[in-house]
Amino acid sequence: ETGATLSGDLAGRHVVVSAGGTRERLDPVRFLGNRSSGLQGYALARAAAARGAEVTLVAANSALPDPAGVKVVKVETTAELRDAVLAAAVAADAVVMAAAPADFRPVNESATKIKKSADGSAPSITLQQNPDILHELSTHRPRPEAVIVGFAAETGDDTGSVLELARAKLARKGCDLLVVNDVSGGAVFGAEDNQAVILAADGASVDVPRGSKSAVAHVIWDQVVARMG
Ligand code: CTP
Ligand code: CA
Repeated sequence: ETGATLSGDLAGRHVVVSAGGTRERLDPVRFLGNRSSGLQGYALARAAAARGAEVTLVAANSALPDPAGVKVVKVETTAELRDAVLAAAVAADAVVMAAAPADFRPVNESATKIKKSADGSAPSITLQQNPDILHELSTHRPRPEAVIVGFAAETGDDTGSVLELARAKLARKGCDLLVVNDVSGGAVFGAEDNQAVILAADGASVDVPRGSKSAVAHVIWDQVVARMG
């Protein structure tokens, strides 16, 4: 794919990639979820393995097949994703949070199926905020020399442009790199192609040309490798 693919520049490195979208259970048959396909995270895991890394892929509810040569840990909820990522991060040279964790979970999970009532009324669901895994990783740094990468899909709004909101998110999260997708035009979720800008905490910014999620993954690893000790 690129020269770096064959160079094995991740040989001897351990990387952790999270992928997919977490689900928060409401009752035994229902959940709150999101539309993340896992494609970009799986492409990152495959690209890292091709470059020689030992890869742990923490996968949330993705229908994609396990990539060859990659250790796959399957999770459902944001709490499970947090536990799996933090455990693997202790030995990681890089952690890439490509997953879309549900931001909220129901305060109560019903042990039995929630039923309709005869009077046509609907139940209220009270939510609470989930832990922010990327922020926790970036502030606690289980391995201080590890490169920590976040993702952000932004539309821009009346408070700022896509890049302004992304710069603010990078600072708030405390990670080293933030891969920013402009989703104001639709498409990204489940799409074959991707386009991004990679913002670095040191102020650098790299435009990633439109290409396959595999090509985007290799550009992300190029940036990670450049920052590894
Ligand atoms: N993330 C995380 N834990 C969460 C939520 C998000 O680790 N509970 C990570 C995502 O995997 C991603 C990055 O944080 O790498 C940014 O996710 P995003 O949803 O854009 O950030 P939020 O802080 O949830 O902000 P927003 O209100 O815009 O959703
Ligand atoms: Ca979010």
